[in-house]
Amino acid sequence: MKLLSFLSTATLFLTANSQIISCPVLTCDSAESMDMDQCYQHDDSHPVATIRTFPCEGYLESTLKSTPLCELNLPKGQHAWYDESTQSIDKSSFSWESAISNKKVRAECRLAASIMNNLSNGRSCSQHSNCLSKNCLAGLCKGLAVGELCARHSDCDAGSYCKKDQTWPYVSKCNKANTNYEQCNEDFECGNSAYCWYVSKQDRIDTVKKCLPLYSQEVGTSMGWYSASFGNITYEDYEINGRYCKSGLAFPVNETANLKNNTNGTKELILGNCTATDKVVYQPNGKLSWPYACNASNQSARCELWYNSSSPNDAITLPQKSFSVRCNCALDGNNGYCSKLLGTEKYKDAMSKRKTVLESSECHTLDRNNFRAQRDSCGIGPGDSLDEAITAMFEVNYHAWVQNGDVYDCIKKVFDDSLLNQSKMGAHILRISIAMVMAIVGILYI
Ligand SMILES: *[C@@H]1O[C@H](CO)[C@@H](O)[C@H](O)[C@H]1NC(C)=O
Ligand SMILES: *[C@@H]1O[C@H](CO)[C@@H](O)[C@H](O)[C@H]1NC(C)=O
Ligand SMILES: *[C@@H]1O[C@H](CO)[C@@H](O)[C@H](O)[C@H]1NC(C)=O
Ligand SMILES: *[C@@H]1O[C@H](CO)[C@@H](O)[C@H](O)[C@H]1NC(C)=O
Ligand SMILES: *[C@@H]1O[C@H](CO)[C@@H](O)[C@H](O)[C@H]1NC(C)=O
Ligand SMILES: *[C@@H]1O[C@H](CO)[C@@H](O)[C@H](O)[C@H]1NC(C)=O
Ligand SMILES: *[C@@H]1O[C@H](CO)[C@@H](O)[C@H](O)[C@H]1NC(C)=O
Ligand SMILES: *[C@@H]1O[C@H](CO)[C@@H](O)[C@H](O)[C@H]1NC(C)=O
Ligand SMILES: *[C@@H]1O[C@H](CO)[C@@H](O)[C@H](O)[C@H]1NC(C)=O
Repeated sequence: MKLLSFLSTATLFLTANSQIISCPVLTCDSAESMDMDQCYQHDDSHPVATIRTFPCEGYLESTLKSTPLCELNLPKGQHAWYDESTQSIDKSSFSWESAISNKKVRAECRLAASIMNNLSNGRSCSQHSNCLSKNCLAGLCKGLAVGELCARHSDCDAGSYCKKDQTWPYVSKCNKANTNYEQCNEDFECGNSAYCWYVSKQDRIDTVKKCLPLYSQEVGTSMGWYSASFGNITYEDYEINGRYCKSGLAFPVNETANLKNNTNGTKELILGNCTATDKVVYQPNGKLSWPYACNASNQSARCELWYNSSSPNDAITLPQKSFSVRCNCALDGNNGYCSKLLGTEKYKDAMSKRKTVLESSECHTLDRNNFRAQRDSCGIGPGDSLDEAITAMFEVNYHAWVQNGDVYDCIKKVFDDSLLNQSKMGAHILRISIAMVMAIVGILYI
């Protein structure tokens, strides 16, 4: 008995202690200290102590005129990084708790031209092999036209999607993309600046979705609410339901009349309202001001994002509710910042810039989140609107890592989604340099 109680006390002690972590450090090494073609190196350990980065500036530059970039792409999930939620663990029987399980720990520099393959329909190309469709026609990747039979969404031309008939013989044909508030089943059926969701409580009850314009609604607007993990609202629920709102944040209206009574006795939330983040609170320090500094070494203390949980009304003080997010390491050794900015002015501004880019896009909807496509002829093209959207998205996505100038400089050079790397367009650069070589050769022959 004594042993048993001792064990459970020990377990409790470990659990209580497991939220204390030590943050890794990101270094920005000089090119000389490293192989010329390597741009990132993880320390192969868990907990993670050091992640090193190296610039690709010297790579192949002397031999070939094309821009090098680092193949590190965190959102793709192939490379090891670190995670505040598992950083305290030093032994576990779950492989997924290890930062290095099933991950690459090194990344190479590549010529920007080498990533210009597998392009969706609508992208500019110089040869068939650039395109996913393997059909480069008049400088653009060409897919199936509206009305032709298709197997996959990616088969159809930009501006259309593969629609499956609901009646015999169930053909699937490329169909023009839906306009806003037309009925849909999936996001890719909607235009680039829309997504497929429940526009109202009634549509949520009837399970009817429509193409809704992204980030378009003011605080107070309603939509149908859906939580995949019903009963327990996650951060993703606030974010996904909030895509209709300018602020990016919606909350579930938890009132009897807005609960769907399931036949099995459970209740589901079905109405959401747009709101915005009113303040960020960190219990040890109270209300935080921008950029929301916190102590990342104690992961049991979380940042609370508070929002008004009622319709806008200046006459009265509105009730507020909150959800909490982690404190992220700043990767500079000591500092930490709240990990998410959902619903804040900074987030709203980034979504508005992204929306501007998407609204002028005629690219394939599979390229919705691909800023390289938006720089191409099907998109808004190069310019301030695109550059501002890329930078704003980068600074929202990596909030804690852009606060220290040196860390920002490191990740800017190696992360594929930075403005620096997104500006590198292999195909065009290659074509221009080939044109230049031809011109020089031409001059020599004259
Ligand atoms: C191109 O896409 C196809 C199908 O999506 C995939 O099998 C292939 O590996 C991709 N190739 C490259 C080089 O990414
Ligand atoms: C709800 O989610 C939180 C955080 O993930 C978790 O700690 C809690 O146990 C969950 N509650 C239920 C009822 O699933
Ligand atoms: C909704 O409100 C009820 C009663 O106040 C509460 O028990 C329940 O946890 C709330 N649900 C959510 C998801 O907040
Ligand atoms: C669900 O049932 C409650 C009574 O348990 C009722 O008051 C409420 O109006 C019902 N909600 C809906 C959306 O029908
Ligand atoms: C109750 O019904 C809902 C939807 O009809 C379903 O998602 C949920 O899993 C069911 N819950 C239980 C406990 O069976
Ligand atoms: C941060 O939290 C850790 C662990 O709780 C603590 O040891 C440290 O003193 C804190 N740092 C600051 C600056 O409060
Ligand atoms: C970590 O933060 C929690 C919540 O604020 C606090 O209760 C706890 O004492 C802190 N732990 C340490 C070691 O500072
Ligand atoms: C939700 O929005 C609707 C319509 O805008 C409004 O009538 C209702 O009062 C709002 N509810 C809350 C709790 O904000
Ligand atoms: C929340 O409501 C208060 C009034 O109670 C208002 O002053 C404040 O601007 C609102 N915050 C947001 C983010 O809308």
